[in-house]
Amino acid sequence: MNSFTSEWLALREPVDHRSRNPKLMASVKAYLQHIESSRPGAVHVVDLGCGSGSNLRALAPVFNEVQEWTLVDSDPKLLNAAHAALLKWSDDSTIVKNDPHTSAHQSQESQLILKKHSKKIIVNFQCADLAKEAHLPIMAKSDLVTAAAFFDLTSDSWLKKFSMALTKPLYATLSYNGAETWDPQGPDDQAVLQAFHFHQRTDKGFGAASGPNAANVLINLLKDRHFDVEVEDSPWVMNELDRPLTEQLAFGIADAVKETGLLPIETVENWLRSKKTASQCTVGHTDFFAYP
Ligand SMILES: C[S@@+](CC[C@H](N)C(=O)[O-])C[C@H]1O[C@@H](n2cnc3c(N)ncnc32)[C@H](O)[C@@H]1O
Repeated sequence: MNSFTSEWLALREPVDHRSRNPKLMASVKAYLQHIESSRPGAVHVVDLGCGSGSNLRALAPVFNEVQEWTLVDSDPKLLNAAHAALLKWSDDSTIVKNDPHTSAHQSQESQLILKKHSKKIIVNFQCADLAKEAHLPIMAKSDLVTAAAFFDLTSDSWLKKFSMALTKPLYATLSYNGAETWDPQGPDDQAVLQAFHFHQRTDKGFGAASGPNAANVLINLLKDRHFDVEVEDSPWVMNELDRPLTEQLAFGIADAVKETGLLPIETVENWLRSKKTASQCTVGHTDFFAYP
């Protein structure tokens, strides 16, 4: 679950999309429409930890008629997966080579111009390790910085650097907030959740991860900088129809808990046995929109 394969991201995409808080999406949409009315041309959005482009696919259909996106990730394989997935998703597309001497297959070396319904969406790809650079120059030139399921990987100290440098509105969606329920319940649920959270706080490249506290930490840091912040819940609410995702989630949690060595393997295996066929599962997430 922590390797972020494009298969895992594809499995969670439909549930991610339906779980986003609609009130917050409406606030972000209204803000971008206001930009359009005061300044013609494309609105520019930067997506941090873009993975295979799910955040763009959720937002572009509700955003302005003309949009330019910069998709940022440290994993070139996922950037290439985003490139391919966006071409498949769009109604029409043009690939523009940035450097005529290189092949346009590598996502970072090309720009996409997509049509989806009535929208024109220009997409740039940037391979960058955000652990090394908490703020990219492109963010200062954008109208909106966004990230989905990303900030919980970062650390309190990184979030501090990020919040100090941020000058643009931030829409952060689907940050895991630690709330989790399963049906059927079991005697070890609490112990497994605690061990999972221990794993969530281990280093994911940014120092000891903020994990389930990340959204709250960042919200408070931005409030200290006098950003206005709207906060809403965006839980995954899953039933039998979401079995492929709940099953992989249960395997991922069990693997993470085993890695911590905090619980006997048998306890984890028993937990996994009852959860991989769970009839219901909710996973808490927080969405927020912060504007300076
Ligand atoms: C849980 S995935 C979310 C992907 C995507 N936003 C989505 O909603 O499907 C986290 C993403 O953060 C990226 N990531 C992790 N560490 C990073 C780093 N140091 N710099 C840039 N991206 C990073 C991963 O490669 C992965 O694509």
